Amino acid sequence: MSNKEIDSIKHHILLCEGKSCTKHGSDSLLHILKEKLLRGKKEKTVLITKVYCTGNCKRSPIMILYPEGTWYGKLTPKVLKKIIKKHIKKGKPFQSHIFGTVDSQ
Ligand code: FES
Repeated sequence: MSNKEIDSIKHHILLCEGKSCTKHGSDSLLHILKEKLLRGKKEKTVLITKVYCTGNCKRSPIMILYPEGTWYGKLTPKVLKKIIKKHIKKGKPFQSHIFGTVDSQ
């Protein structure tokens, strides 16, 4: 990844692909993220990174969204589509599935 490509990134998504999250559908979430945010885009503004167990399996599947450091849990395809529409595209966090935020101070 070049410096120019890194500079164009506006959101970094960490999607858990650990055992519990995979069991609860993280593969289909990854597919949705790629379809909605990456497919056909010339300039990539989103970086998706798979991680393996964040230690929050009871809330699986998990996604962490930066730069805000927002932790989303118990995701479904329907909820993820709302997060993409509201949070990623409009900057308004989707409160009902947030269980934590990294304190950046
Ligand atoms: S497998 Fe995803 S939080 Fe544990």
